Amino acid sequence: MSAISSGVRTRNPFVRRAAILAGIGGFLFGYDTGVIGGALPLIASDFDWDTPFRKGVITSSLLLGAAVGAFLAGRLSDRLGRKRLILLTAATFVVGIIGASLAPEAISLVAFRVIIGLGVGSASVVVPLYIGEIAPPDIRGALVSLNQLAITIGILSSQLIAYFLTTTGQWRTMVALAAIPSVVLGLGMLRQPESPAWLVEQEREDEARQILGRVRERPEDVDAEIDEVQDVARQREGVNALFGSGVRPALVIGLGLAIIQQITGINTVIYFAPTLLEGAGLGEHAAIGGTVIVGAINVLLTIVAIKLLDRVGRRPLLLGGTAGMVVGLTVLAISFIGQGDAIDNTHAAIAIAALCLYVGSFAIGLGPVFWLLISEIYPLRVRGSAMSLAGVTNWLANFLIAISYLSILSAAGRPATFFGLAVITLLSFVFMQIKVPETKGRSLSEIEMDLRGGETYPSHAADDARTGPPAGTAV
Ligand code: BGC
Repeated sequence: MSAISSGVRTRNPFVRRAAILAGIGGFLFGYDTGVIGGALPLIASDFDWDTPFRKGVITSSLLLGAAVGAFLAGRLSDRLGRKRLILLTAATFVVGIIGASLAPEAISLVAFRVIIGLGVGSASVVVPLYIGEIAPPDIRGALVSLNQLAITIGILSSQLIAYFLTTTGQWRTMVALAAIPSVVLGLGMLRQPESPAWLVEQEREDEARQILGRVRERPEDVDAEIDEVQDVARQREGVNALFGSGVRPALVIGLGLAIIQQITGINTVIYFAPTLLEGAGLGEHAAIGGTVIVGAINVLLTIVAIKLLDRVGRRPLLLGGTAGMVVGLTVLAISFIGQGDAIDNTHAAIAIAALCLYVGSFAIGLGPVFWLLISEIYPLRVRGSAMSLAGVTNWLANFLIAISYLSILSAAGRPATFFGLAVITLLSFVFMQIKVPETKGRSLSEIEMDLRGGETYPSHAADDARTGPPAGTAV
């Protein structure tokens, strides 16, 4: 947190605006994905699309768009530049959001949600990338966690708005409100400089030097940084290098955690909690109220995690948090046993407490640690592509869970579904216990040596100086 505050408090206007843009990018990720929780029951009855599969399609259309958006952003950020891509992303958001909020029937709503998804996926890659390149090295790491905090604040805001609007049935307003931060993102970006790292790669060194002169406090940092970017550009390798034996252990961990973060079910709660609680007999308003509590716990424990990550380390939080998720899911499953459609008060209270334990445990471990580790475990020469691949995998896994969850829930029932998730989470714990290294306070080359079982890359020294993503993220 101290690093976050020092970063956000910087007096340099470009860096300060970059930090705010990072926050808006994360906020939109959270708001646009979370808003479906409160809106879905209203949309389903408005459009008469009330089957589990159709509700899954409405929810997951955005996630499919996000997977494509994250994939395209890798390439487009190299081709168009970061600034132009962020402007395009903001425009995509506005078109998708206005279209979705005016959609006359379900199919056009699904189509516009795919467009919003393109924006969400693209923002999830290009905003942190731009920030990593414009911010001084000492706040890059903090901004990774700031992004996760902004995601949870976005989710909570969407739940609060749903809570206040749900009795009026105004799902269109819930969706439309996201246009405001999108416009702010676009306008904020108009006054920002292009990324100096990208300009160096385009051989526009003079412009890069001018911009660096404005965003770095000490002039002597400018030459060193230009040399470093040129070095990185020389070392950077294509997507094939990702599958070479040297990078494989890190790739397995990154992709494994990307899938685990989703198949352990976090978004079944974030997107479907009102649907679940209503199905369990709570009234519409009370169900969304329960969801707001869950969202607030998500924000609070993310703040706790950010404070602890550099003190107790990543592994204890990841393992402890995942163990808490197993307990939460098991209790949730038990609370539904023998309960029909109308769950009694005691069991409903136990179910909500179990949901809170589960979400709080995710927020303290797997939520922030996944995004942090994928910025730490890859060698510099492939870091951009590897991070982008992990992002795309995360969105695809998210899509598959969201499209199938309600159908599984209605076929298998609540107890079996949550027991199933508890078993998957337990197996994920074993994977983490065996595979995931501690990265706290260690240099990137030490981490890499560990992952490769003793050998290291000769060219790795430059990595230790950097904490952020390299220039370029093409998958
Ligand atoms: C995940 C999202 C999830 C959010 C919940 C993020 O780390 O990637 O899928 O909705 O956490 O806080």
